[in-house]
Amino acid sequence: MERNEPCWCGSGKKYKKCHMAIDEKIKIYEDRGDIVPPREILKTPEQIEKIKKSAEINTGILDFVAEHIKAGISTEQIDKWVYDYTVERGGIPADLGYEGYPKSVCTSINNEICHGIPSENIILAEGDIINVDVSTILDGYFSDASRMFKIGKVSERAEKIVRVTQECVELGLAQAKPWNHLGDIADAINTHAKENGYSVVEDIGGHGIGLAFHEEPFVSYVTPKGSEMLLVPGMTFTIEPMVNEGGPDFYVDEDNGWTVYTEDDGLSAQVEYMVLITEDGHEVITK
Ligand code: MF3
Ligand code: CO
Repeated sequence: MERNEPCWCGSGKKYKKCHMAIDEKIKIYEDRGDIVPPREILKTPEQIEKIKKSAEINTGILDFVAEHIKAGISTEQIDKWVYDYTVERGGIPADLGYEGYPKSVCTSINNEICHGIPSENIILAEGDIINVDVSTILDGYFSDASRMFKIGKVSERAEKIVRVTQECVELGLAQAKPWNHLGDIADAINTHAKENGYSVVEDIGGHGIGLAFHEEPFVSYVTPKGSEMLLVPGMTFTIEPMVNEGGPDFYVDEDNGWTVYTEDDGLSAQVEYMVLITEDGHEVITK
């Protein structure tokens, strides 16, 4: 690409005033043998604007759930809140119909690691901890985040895993800046989980997101510092470790084909932020 041509990212600026310096820097890492992001996953300013509109709905849903969730409601009720809130604002729940998934949200309680399917037969009880994982499509742009909720007073065990998982994500987020690597985020998360006696699920992870639900890269939270893909401005991906009280092993529900449980029945917690790598750090797109 010529210095004076309009930049490939569509900013309208000349290449030399836009992505040229970043491209040159990426090339240095690439020549060194690093995994570098393909251009297609670096979002343009226009795409980022549209992703943020989708994320506004996504965060709004989680805020709505936070205000209304309580003991005695069914997870089906949460599904209805998510569906209604999304479609009333012109969006589509990204989960609905995704690879045949039957509902608009994932609701994973206690020993469920992820992909709990809402049901009118599942009633929230005092002491439960639940992950509500919401993903939204607006105008073709995707957003994704999840929070943990404590139902009434919960045990000290439950209190601790929710707190530590939140801390894990914040520590990972602090590593989300250009020219770091995904492994830096993973190591910060895994180290904090281990220090608290916990383990991080290995085979299920985060993902690039924005123009599709699941884009490159796969984001592991157990890889070493300095390893995995280089972080570059314009990347959008999730930080969503699943933290287990016991071992990292899991099994999938044979009947519904989705819900993932801890093998040892221990508690599991997950928090998911969707982040954008910026020129000087990161922005949280939805959490
Ligand atoms: N929201 C999940 C994620 O973080 C994906 C759920 S897919 C579904 O990637 F089909 F289970 F909804
Ligand atoms: Co996700």
